[in-house]
Amino acid sequence: MQRTIFLINGPNLNLLGTRKVEVYGTTTLAELVAMVEAEAALHGFALTAVQSNHEGGLVDAIHAARAGGFGIVINPGAYSHTSVAIRDAIEGVALPTIEVHLSNIYAREPFRRHSFVSEVARGVITGLGPVGYLLAVRALATLGDVR
Ligand code: DQA
Repeated sequence: MQRTIFLINGPNLNLLGTRKVEVYGTTTLAELVAMVEAEAALHGFALTAVQSNHEGGLVDAIHAARAGGFGIVINPGAYSHTSVAIRDAIEGVALPTIEVHLSNIYAREPFRRHSFVSEVARGVITGLGPVGYLLAVRALATLGDVR
């Protein structure tokens, strides 16, 4: 059976391509998902992509990854900075999880500098735009080698 990477995007990321393009760029969510899917396929993975504007929906998506998920690539959006529930869900499913942010959260407002998710993530990629998602897939694919 083909291994599956779960791509989970949080609140407001459905607006990609039109929202604050000077920060988040012009790539739409559909384009981003297609890019990540192609990268996953290169490494022999299927992709399941979910976007939700709701904290509970994101928790459900993380739990769903237990069924056959090899790993998770997640951009929790603003919930990174507030959600103990999302942090606990990631810890609970115990799948390797890479946290991605399009923008550099350390170069913006002070409230973005702390992420509850980072402490349970296998790794964090921030500030590289869409390529960060591709690097996250690549990292998951080679996790056995990078320690
Ligand atoms: C973001 C950074 C968050 O601070 C912000 O709330 C987002 C997007 C990013 O991808 O850069 O919604 O996660």
